[in-house]
Amino acid sequence: LLVDRGNHRHFMAKEIYEQPETISHTLSHYVDMGAEKVSIRETMPFDFAKLTRLTISACGTAYFAGAVAKYWFERYARLPVDIDVASEFRYREPPMEMGGLSLFISQSGETADTLAALRYCAAQGQHVASLVNTQESTIARESDVVFPILCGPEIGVASTKALSAQLTALASLAIAAGRARGVLNAEQEADLVRALISVPNAVSRALGQEDRIVEIAKKLSKAKDVLYLGRGVMFPIAMEGALKLKEISYIHAEGYAAGELKHGPIALVDEAMPVIVVAPSDELVDKTLSNMQEVAARGGKIILITDEAGAATVGQGVAETILIPQVSNFVAPILALIPVQLLAYHTAVAMGTDVDQPRNLAKSVTVE
Ligand code: G6P
Repeated sequence: LLVDRGNHRHFMAKEIYEQPETISHTLSHYVDMGAEKVSIRETMPFDFAKLTRLTISACGTAYFAGAVAKYWFERYARLPVDIDVASEFRYREPPMEMGGLSLFISQSGETADTLAALRYCAAQGQHVASLVNTQESTIARESDVVFPILCGPEIGVASTKALSAQLTALASLAIAAGRARGVLNAEQEADLVRALISVPNAVSRALGQEDRIVEIAKKLSKAKDVLYLGRGVMFPIAMEGALKLKEISYIHAEGYAAGELKHGPIALVDEAMPVIVVAPSDELVDKTLSNMQEVAARGGKIILITDEAGAATVGQGVAETILIPQVSNFVAPILALIPVQLLAYHTAVAMGTDVDQPRNLAKSVTVE
């Protein structure tokens, strides 16, 4: 192996800790720091201004990158986004307008379902773009334009630094689309770019919560089921948190849209069930916090991931709070990702599982 773990016990820990650096690297490709502008170096065979729809498809953690990006493209570029996991997308045979843009997100660039979805879209006359880490991969080769994420080799089977790099690149593309479509002016672009530039340093500070997270993870390792809640861009982060926990600790976990709590999962809540609420302050935080109170009223143990402003508005009933730095709403999902990664990692370490090679999982799934 050409890559080593350095001083870390697992590749996954190394990759989590590398993120300030890897995100900076991704940013330096997509952003002109001095001019506070996004600069896309790849030649784009399509015009963001002319698109009527963006279709995104991916699997696993890469799918959650797309799910966050949907909010960004719709909000900052007013571009409607259709997103589906690749294994569903390919058999749905969705009708597509000629000349549309399809984007495939894949760390390895070899995932069979994602590749099949790509081929379907190419056959439907779509412009095919991909966001990959491995630039010599099959998905990259079959794309009209390849956006690299440049986070270096990811060895841990459970993806971490690839997701933050995908999010960084997607945030940049959403800004580029917003400018091209006349939704964002230069000043708004500069604001969003400044927020992106602040991410690596904020991620370093978020990693500083590790000691607290180790303590919380010890308790989490006793749980049988864990529920993760989030709203808006935090919903995919909640799903990613649940996915990471099941992948490496084998504890059953579900990520749910906070507003859907009352339509089902609330029936499961009791004193034995930890509920992780991902809710940094934004225009939706009050709604999520009121969903959280419904959990507290039923004796559920709440672990709240929020920022100072969010923590200030919380009432009673929170067992543990994990603080992330106060950042712009735009980049908050990248920050909220850090504690969910660390929680899953330290829970798995507390349980003694094989963190880098979890049972039954493969780094890249090249069969259907
Ligand atoms: C596997 C890996 C996941 C990854 C998914 C998609 O399930 O265990 O970590 O998110 O494949 O992989 P890709 O290489 O397409 O991003």
